[in-house]
Amino acid sequence: MIDNGRASRATHAVLPGSFDPPTNGHLDVIERSARCFGRVTVAVVVNPQKREPMFSLEEREAMLKECTAHLPNVSVEHFRGLLAAYVKQMRADVIVKGLRVVSDFENEMSTALMNRSLSDVDTLFLMSDQRYSFVSSSIVKEVFFLGGDVAALVPEPVLRIMSAKRAGVARSK
Ligand code: PNS
Repeated sequence: MIDNGRASRATHAVLPGSFDPPTNGHLDVIERSARCFGRVTVAVVVNPQKREPMFSLEEREAMLKECTAHLPNVSVEHFRGLLAAYVKQMRADVIVKGLRVVSDFENEMSTALMNRSLSDVDTLFLMSDQRYSFVSSSIVKEVFFLGGDVAALVPEPVLRIMSAKRAGVARSK
């Protein structure tokens, strides 16, 4: 709403994802969203239809909370089931997502249209920073657990928890 030429409404954005684990690309989109919107809820999906995540819900939430502790208008929550139902329940104004490459677009477009038809909430996309356009949680996991260096691609708390998990996996073998 515009009041005397100034926006007078603090927009509540929901930023959903699996975050298995959070990457620097995710954190970049969260930080930029925190500058654009009055309130940002980072929403970790609990989705039994998807493959079992490598990191538990508690680990993913803890990593995100630590990585976003410097952002006072950002909170971290989780949701089950439909995103559209969650954003309605949260009375969110928008869904925000990062868009990395053209191949992301097709799936994101149908998802955004479906979510809008279910909830009347629009999805806004932030272009991922070019430094992170090739970074996904799955590629980071694969490289890291095969011994590659991902220190430049994930926040420090995430690297710590990944290292602990890798050490645990190595011990159990
Ligand atoms: O980080 P991801 O895995 O790309 O995030 C995908 C996510 C969580 C945004 C998507 O899987 C989702 O919205 N899941 C909730 C279930 C749902 O609403 N499905 C219908 C989408 S139209």
